[in-house]
Amino acid sequence: MTEITRDVVIVGAGAAGLTAAHELRKAGLSVAVLEARERVGGRLWTDVIDGAMLELGGQWVSPDQDALIDTVAELGLDTFSRYREGDSVYVGPDGTVSRFTGEMFPVSPETERTIDEITRRLDAMVAEIDPDRPFAHPKAAEWDTITWDAWLRQQTDDDEAVRNLAFATGSAMLTKPTHAFSLLQSLLMAASAGSYSHLVDADFILDKRVVGGLQQVPVLLAERLGDDVFLNRPVRTIEWSDAGVTAHADGLTVRARSAVLAVAPVLYNRISFVPPMPRLQHQMHQHISMGFVIKVHAVYETPFWREKGLSGTAFSPYEICHEAYDNTNHDDPRGTLVGFVSDRNADDMFRLSAEERKERILESLSHYYGPEAKDPVVYYESDWGTEEWTRGAYAASFDLGGLHRYGADVRTPLGPIQFACSDIAGAGYQHVDGAIRMGRLAARNILADGRV
Ligand code: FDA
Repeated sequence: MTEITRDVVIVGAGAAGLTAAHELRKAGLSVAVLEARERVGGRLWTDVIDGAMLELGGQWVSPDQDALIDTVAELGLDTFSRYREGDSVYVGPDGTVSRFTGEMFPVSPETERTIDEITRRLDAMVAEIDPDRPFAHPKAAEWDTITWDAWLRQQTDDDEAVRNLAFATGSAMLTKPTHAFSLLQSLLMAASAGSYSHLVDADFILDKRVVGGLQQVPVLLAERLGDDVFLNRPVRTIEWSDAGVTAHADGLTVRARSAVLAVAPVLYNRISFVPPMPRLQHQMHQHISMGFVIKVHAVYETPFWREKGLSGTAFSPYEICHEAYDNTNHDDPRGTLVGFVSDRNADDMFRLSAEERKERILESLSHYYGPEAKDPVVYYESDWGTEEWTRGAYAASFDLGGLHRYGADVRTPLGPIQFACSDIAGAGYQHVDGAIRMGRLAARNILADGRV
């Protein structure tokens, strides 16, 4: 067992942990980053599968994500825009396939009016939410104790309008069934991106990608930290007191004056705290859970949909793949589609054999793009549910009622331990931008609290 001493120990080498370490190092402190996996990046992971470079986790950057945009620029990385020329596709309740342009799905004029009107109402509510303090809104308790689905169904009995409104924060973002989280949680998701309208605008929320993959952000940050990043070192126990922290990882112990716990909140309970965390944290952390989505990658010899005048952007709350996009890599002659299968659909898919699952998912893609979609040259499903050090996707959120009950305490430090993760962010919540913001905040708090 090796033992080292640093000013700050950081647990987790995702975007949040590496940002915190980098900021602290810039301020002249010594750091050690302990990472459970054999790689850095956490939920950012670019890999080559059967010859195709695929971004298995987070990839898109939107224009409001200043913290991520600054970091990408500072690291000297280039970005490129998602392909978006041509028509989008929508599949309606009876399976009818329609092409459309703009943000509004091709629904009946009545349904369109209803969606427009409720979107305006939601934008007004979201404008009142401070993403860092959603629990402080005067109606926080009321909005946190009604489900997103129930609230929408109180606004209209138009089922197609409800399903289309619901999925922007449901299947597409929190990736939980819409009966499993509150209206307030949904408003937070929208407020963290600036407005509800931003979330439904694919050209905004899925704007750019990084050439070579977004995992380069953590990879380059880790390179700057050099030997202070320790891989294959899952932290098992943290001893803490006002005097400091001792983190016990496999084969390595780090003594430090402060710590940053930069792992997903659902994993806090994988670590034994000595003394135990207080009762509030024990309770609170049990009300935070991961959503679940399968990110499906299908690579073709050519981006055949473009020849049909399709942008690749496709939506349907009635399809197994509720959304799909052109995800062709920069300067790649082959074409890649990415589709998403969320919450209960994902559960159902994993009850099938791998062959049956692939067939059903590609069948769903073919409803958007035609029969050619059934024959990719590379097919891969990112399944973060089986990843021991993540356990779901995209991120974690409170269950019904948890946000107003515990939200104010979610970032409260535990003695010398700061928390940092995209899943406890305000702006950039559940996104890499939020992870970077939380990493910076943890570093600022450590520099300000006088322990180091
Ligand atoms: P993250 O989970 O990345 O890092 C935590 C690290 O801690 C991991 O490396 C883990 O191994 C490690 N760890 C855990 N327990 C440990 C222990 N006990 N000891 C040591 N190490 C431990 N975002 C976005 O901005 N745009 C997008 O397009 C997408 N799309 C997307 C798709 C998919 C499929 C996923 C899964 C996620 C996204 N996201 C996204 C979300 C985004 O990837 C995510 O919000 C951030 O990468 C989270 O970064 P963090 O550093 O907060 O946690």
